[in-house]
Amino acid sequence: MKKVIAIDGPSGAGKSTLARLIARELGFDYLDTGALYRAVALHLTSHGLEENAPDEEIEKLLRKVRVEFRSGRVLVNGTDVSEEIRTPEASHYASVFSARQPVRQYLLGIQRDAAAHADLVTEGRDMTTVVFPGAFRKIYLDASVEERCRRRETEFMARGVEVNMDRLRLEIIERDARDSGRGIAPLRKAGDAFLMDSTGLHIDEVFRQIMEFIRE
Ligand code: DC
Repeated sequence: MKKVIAIDGPSGAGKSTLARLIARELGFDYLDTGALYRAVALHLTSHGLEENAPDEEIEKLLRKVRVEFRSGRVLVNGTDVSEEIRTPEASHYASVFSARQPVRQYLLGIQRDAAAHADLVTEGRDMTTVVFPGAFRKIYLDASVEERCRRRETEFMARGVEVNMDRLRLEIIERDARDSGRGIAPLRKAGDAFLMDSTGLHIDEVFRQIMEFIRE
């Protein structure tokens, strides 16, 4: 395995922006594991699977699908679904199906393979705890719910998507609870991860502090 910088944290904490900046700075590959979970969930729902589908049905569909993350894009059987996976509905299903064992098992190998041939900056919910527990550097990036709501609002508005702040806040709280409360690979801070609370900080400052930690 090559060198891995692993970042975990709740949705909207700024993980992907930070991970991209680190990857560019160090010349590492970048892996957005949330995009993989989103793509898998999209595949399952587009084949009619409901939230409570039995494991066997999930396994059956995953046996025949190829999900890849390449140059910042996510592909399902060769089709680019990078835009489709960014809706609030896709976020919801990604969170729901990511709690299922066959989904986590399916993506485990794909994520580890990404570090087989290239140094990697990766971000998600269980990078530091399950997928890369031996990572070169481990970071837990947090921010308050209010701040994460504001960032999500800005993101949606930039894409011309209208948002209802109360609904957005509820969705974030619900997703936090599900991602942290599930039985398998829940979101939690690894004991040896560097804790960075980005509330009130500009991304440049977060990046500066994190690079200092990485270069220590
Ligand atoms: O990072 P994101 O918001 O794109 O992730 C979407 C969902 O995928 C998130 O709610 C939980 C799940 N996920 C996960 O369980 N494990 C990961 N390593 C990354 C994402």
